[in-house]
Amino acid sequence: MFYNSKAMSIFSDKRILLGVTGSIAAYKSADLASKLTQAGAQVDVILTQATEKFITPLTFQSVTGRRVYTDADLWGNEAHVLHIGLSKNADLLLIAPSTANTIAKLAHGLADNLLTVTALAATCPILIAPAMDGGMFEAPATQANLATLKTRGVTFIGPAEGHLASGLNAKGRLLEPSEILGHTRIILGKHGNLAGKKVVVTAGGTQEAIDPVRIITNHSSGKQGYALAQAALDAGAEVTLITTPSALTPPIGANLIKVKSAKELLNAVSNESADVLIMAAAAADFRPKVIAQDKMKKRDGIPQIELEVTEDILKSVAGLGSGKRRFKIMVGFAAESQNLLENAEEKLKSKGLDLIAANDISAKDAGFEVETNRITLLFASGIKESLPLMSKVEAAEKIIERIATLVE
Ligand code: CTP
Repeated sequence: MFYNSKAMSIFSDKRILLGVTGSIAAYKSADLASKLTQAGAQVDVILTQATEKFITPLTFQSVTGRRVYTDADLWGNEAHVLHIGLSKNADLLLIAPSTANTIAKLAHGLADNLLTVTALAATCPILIAPAMDGGMFEAPATQANLATLKTRGVTFIGPAEGHLASGLNAKGRLLEPSEILGHTRIILGKHGNLAGKKVVVTAGGTQEAIDPVRIITNHSSGKQGYALAQAALDAGAEVTLITTPSALTPPIGANLIKVKSAKELLNAVSNESADVLIMAAAAADFRPKVIAQDKMKKRDGIPQIELEVTEDILKSVAGLGSGKRRFKIMVGFAAESQNLLENAEEKLKSKGLDLIAANDISAKDAGFEVETNRITLLFASGIKESLPLMSKVEAAEKIIERIATLVE
């Protein structure tokens, strides 16, 4: 037995009906079904007859751990319950890949196989990721069918432009499974407890230039900030992620603003106004007073770099004194190596915060660069809550849950 760190609460207790149609991209759906299952969803797969020529039910059964449905089931013993039951119990009908043929059938209400019968009876949201060869997607008939289905509330994602199985380079590629997963989360989270709210999250360590080559930065990986942005999206919020350069993949659906220095971060945050600001970025406290125009050369000796203090971003947008408060709820982080609670409490007050997440960076299993965090939440009301050691993803979900209780 081991801990499945990939399970995400947005998917736990969710039932996803995955329709797979006869496109060569069907092989990617096995990965999608696996990713959805690992994320915690219950995935029921329906294959069309053409799909079975590309990939077998056993493949999907093996990755979902559940029985897979095919057209043979349309005429089996359970047929009378299947076409209604499958979609009735689902939180989402996801068709990936969807051929032009299936899209056409859905647009015209045809129901000649288990998938289209199920789709016609579905009352849950429908998400379709088309995949087809060059020309088929742009064909007026396909475009008209897409338009019809969109007016009925169906959501389409992709297709992407790129290499197609025929050798063409055109629009028709199935989105990557990780991207489809991201879009799935947006639909599942639509009515979450931050629905209709705007959340700005900052992430990563800032970079302060010394010369055109060198920078001063810190160990922040951006992991906690990116996880917070994803958790806010999962809760239905509109999310802006202001990030410093990062190797991480931004969550699907976040509006991305890229910055480097603390000054750029301050400008980006100052241009926003929202229900919530979460300052997870590790902004530099000091920067070189003067940035050398040219690369500093060794032959010129050891440079003396004079530093100056950067602006405190939280303080400057907190509306302390006479300033205007741009965010209803402001959340900060306190990374401390000593006197955790005293220092965090002081920051909570001096920065005008509603909540501060304090973490002890001297611990090996918490803080910068690692996957886990041990956080204590301090609320402006005086309430303190110590969270146990957990993944940064879980910590983000907990913090977002608490923030949702603060936003009315
Ligand atoms: N922060 C900020 N502007 C800065 C530096 C930090 O808004 N120039 C924010 C961080 O994003 C974080 C909170 O303030 O949410 C606390 O950051 P931290 O570095 O722990 O505190 P500092 O105020 O910089 O104090 P010190 O470094 O002396 O502990």
